[in-house]
Amino acid sequence: VDKHVDNFLGNPQLEEASELLRQNEVVAFPTETVYGLGANAKSDLAVMKIYEAKGRPSDNPLIVHIAEKNQLEELVTNISEQAQILMQRFWPGPLTIIFNCRPGILSEKVTAGMDTVGIRMPDHPLAHELIRLTNLPIAAPSANRSGKPSPTTAWHVLDDLNGRIAGIVDGGYTGVGVESTVIDCTGDIPMILRPGGVSKEQIEMAIGEVLVDPALNSDTNDCPKSPGMKYTHYAPDAPVYLVEGTFTYIQELVNKKQKEGLKVGVIATEETKNNYRADCVIACGSRNDLSTVAHNLYDTLRAFNNQDVDLIFSETFSVEGIGLAIMNRLEKAAGHRWVRQ
Ligand code: TXA
Ligand code: MG
Repeated sequence: VDKHVDNFLGNPQLEEASELLRQNEVVAFPTETVYGLGANAKSDLAVMKIYEAKGRPSDNPLIVHIAEKNQLEELVTNISEQAQILMQRFWPGPLTIIFNCRPGILSEKVTAGMDTVGIRMPDHPLAHELIRLTNLPIAAPSANRSGKPSPTTAWHVLDDLNGRIAGIVDGGYTGVGVESTVIDCTGDIPMILRPGGVSKEQIEMAIGEVLVDPALNSDTNDCPKSPGMKYTHYAPDAPVYLVEGTFTYIQELVNKKQKEGLKVGVIATEETKNNYRADCVIACGSRNDLSTVAHNLYDTLRAFNNQDVDLIFSETFSVEGIGLAIMNRLEKAAGHRWVRQ
């Protein structure tokens, strides 16, 4: 979270944004993961404006954001013991928990006809203050046009949604950089539906065994249980290829494509960036600390759209810790295209 965020607390901007939300308008705001596009989760009219602004398919449910634990009881039923532990350990924070939805409270457009709902309590002072002031559950998907990388600065939101939304609360860069982990706690054993800011290892430390939706594995043809995971997403305009191999091998691939007359980009790391000769090389973070890669990933993917490249080769990462979320997003950005040495 940027230092200047403090200046926004008690700032008229937040009160104005809150007033717009109460009037069923849509407003973008920062969270610790990515910017969200918020609306009153109890109003059909407000929630429809989210789908319209994003161009989001209406069968993809939205997650609901709260500021205080006491907002939860009104919205959901059957809170399991594991969910209790997860909330205590990771809220506020980048974990979305799927519960059974209490009927008749939220707009049915939020749940897209499902009988469950994802709830999250963001850990960002501006998000917290905005939701608290508004005193409503706030439906908020990531504030990008559907299919684009999620926004990690107000500039990204403006690029995608300028003219389509009522306002943006500007909090500078977000922290984590990838979205929250989505975990379904309605079954006997909780299941991770989307890897994200809280790692599988951290969750296992808190509650023991968890499952991971088998459909997240690119080798299967199963339909993902989280509707949003079936869509292509995060892709820059130029095709991305994930490379499993040394930087020397990646350089050979670059040379070959350049000989064919193509302009080539490389998604590199601080440790490797100086080894490449390509048309555009961007380091997305350090291999010694994958949280830096998560923080910069979407900005890096978006940055290639301002570069004149025909294709992009990307280094790959281990799937430990936050690496699982990074590789999940890179796989989607690449449409599962791999090159192996
Ligand atoms: O970090 C985040 O989670 C951000 C910030 C703004 O909070 N929000 C976000 O929302 O990423 P969105 O809508 O882009 O992604 C929510 C994901 C989608 O893949 C959606 O399909 C899934 O959660 N989801 C929502 N409700 C669900 C439900 N009842 N069952 C299964 N999956 C659900
Ligand atoms: Mg999204």
